[in-house]
Amino acid sequence: MIKITEQLFLKAIKSTHTKTLYTLMQEVYALSYSSFWKDKGQWYIDSQYAKEVVLKELLETNADYYFIVFNNEVVGVFRFVWDQKLKENSEEKQVKLHRVYIHPKAQHNGLGKTLLTWLEEKAQTQGYTLIWLDAMNEQPQAFQFYKKQGYKHYSHTFLTYDLLHDKVRKMSQLYKKI
Ligand SMILES: CC(C)(COP(=O)(O)OP(=O)(O)OC[C@H]1O[C@@H](n2cnc3c(N)ncnc32)[C@H](O)[C@@H]1OP(=O)(O)O)[C@@H](O)C(=O)NCCC(=O)NCCS
Repeated sequence: MIKITEQLFLKAIKSTHTKTLYTLMQEVYALSYSSFWKDKGQWYIDSQYAKEVVLKELLETNADYYFIVFNNEVVGVFRFVWDQKLKENSEEKQVKLHRVYIHPKAQHNGLGKTLLTWLEEKAQTQGYTLIWLDAMNEQPQAFQFYKKQGYKHYSHTFLTYDLLHDKVRKMSQLYKKI
């Protein structure tokens, strides 16, 4: 376990944790995003957290994938991918924040902010100069959060998944120089 604060730890996700991860994200993802989807998000959850998908992601050597543990309880996930580029032709060393999901019962305790700061410092010490991520525009909670942490708009796109409601298709790429 990686200790971030007295109450906050990161526990590496391993191949033996696929069931725990699926159960967790079925709850955590749905609590924040089920209203985006015609099927309440079940197809998307399966596409991201089915056992075979997770096992494949765990083989990616340039990615780190953790459970967020707060007060001895698993409350979310945190995943980032080193050297995945926002600006394709840039020589800059870039890291993608792929997932940060915190259960509503643990939100607004400063966990998100603490984890982003921790990632920024870790990336900086390894010579990275930019962090970026994808965020759904119609999730104001996440959007405001990233804005507050200093992330800026880079570009946007519209997701084409059939099951997504039309009004929430906009997704932005946000970045922060570190
Ligand atoms: C977005 C998320 C990661 C934020 O984490 P969090 O632990 O709740 O946020 P924090 O408590 O660290 O808040 C940090 C700052 O952001 C602000 N913030 C958090 N949620 C906010 C909201 N809904 N509206 C406005 N500001 C918000 C806080 O006020 C705080 O500001 P401060 O530093 O001035 O005090 C978390 O709410 C979450 O997991 N949401 C659901 C899943 C999700 O959408 N993930 C992002 C996918 S791209």
